Amino acid sequence: MHSRLKPELIDTDAGYSMGPLKLLALSGSLRKASCNTAAIRALKVLAPGDVDITIGTIGELPLFNPDCENDHIPALEKLRSALKASDGLILASPEYAHGISGPLKNALDWLVSTDEFPYKPIMLVNTSARATHAHAALQEVLATMSGNLIEKAHVSIMLLGTGLDAGGIVEARDIASALRTGLDEFCMAIEACNMGKCVSHPRE
Ligand SMILES: Cc1cc2nc3c(=O)[nH]c(=O)nc-3n(C[C@H](O)[C@H](O)[C@H](O)COP(=O)(O)O)c2cc1C
Repeated sequence: MHSRLKPELIDTDAGYSMGPLKLLALSGSLRKASCNTAAIRALKVLAPGDVDITIGTIGELPLFNPDCENDHIPALEKLRSALKASDGLILASPEYAHGISGPLKNALDWLVSTDEFPYKPIMLVNTSARATHAHAALQEVLATMSGNLIEKAHVSIMLLGTGLDAGGIVEARDIASALRTGLDEFCMAIEACNMGKCVSHPRE
């Protein structure tokens, strides 16, 4: 049986669909040398051939203003259509002053009232083990927005201070393996959800 999943992760009774999976990945950092952006670029390289990861941008979004939700905002329309076209969303974000990055929170605020966000499967990538506050806050925000957080797909890797770019991450065996394992779990969860066998657990 063909599968994008590692052999040991295949449930032969599951009957996974064969179509390519489309994932949208967003980094919460606008920094050129961002660890978080490097992590999602590496994920794109590490993804199997039938998993297509689009790296979206949030830096051009204006500051959120509910008065403007129905305005023509090209950056928002681009983000919304990328989200609509995706089977799942990957988020990697730094922690700033124990909070979610402003750019990512801004992007999420623009998406709160949209049709595209609710129930979207979400994989979180944390590139700094000490960034626990932002991770917890992000989980709370995403659950409130009715995102489908796939906890088994969560990846925590230590990139802070390593100076690794995407190519270096791909070459770093343990880090690359953690990313690939998380991605495999994510794809498996999405396919299960698509078949009505959702395995995510709502937060208590
Ligand atoms: C203004 C500022 C505040 C920060 N606050 C925290 C923090 O509260 N906790 C933490 O773990 N790291 C904190 N950091 C470190 C960043 O999270 C870290 O540099 C991260 O790698 C940045 O992500 P990036 O490499 O994707 O840009 C802070 C960095 C800056 C610039």
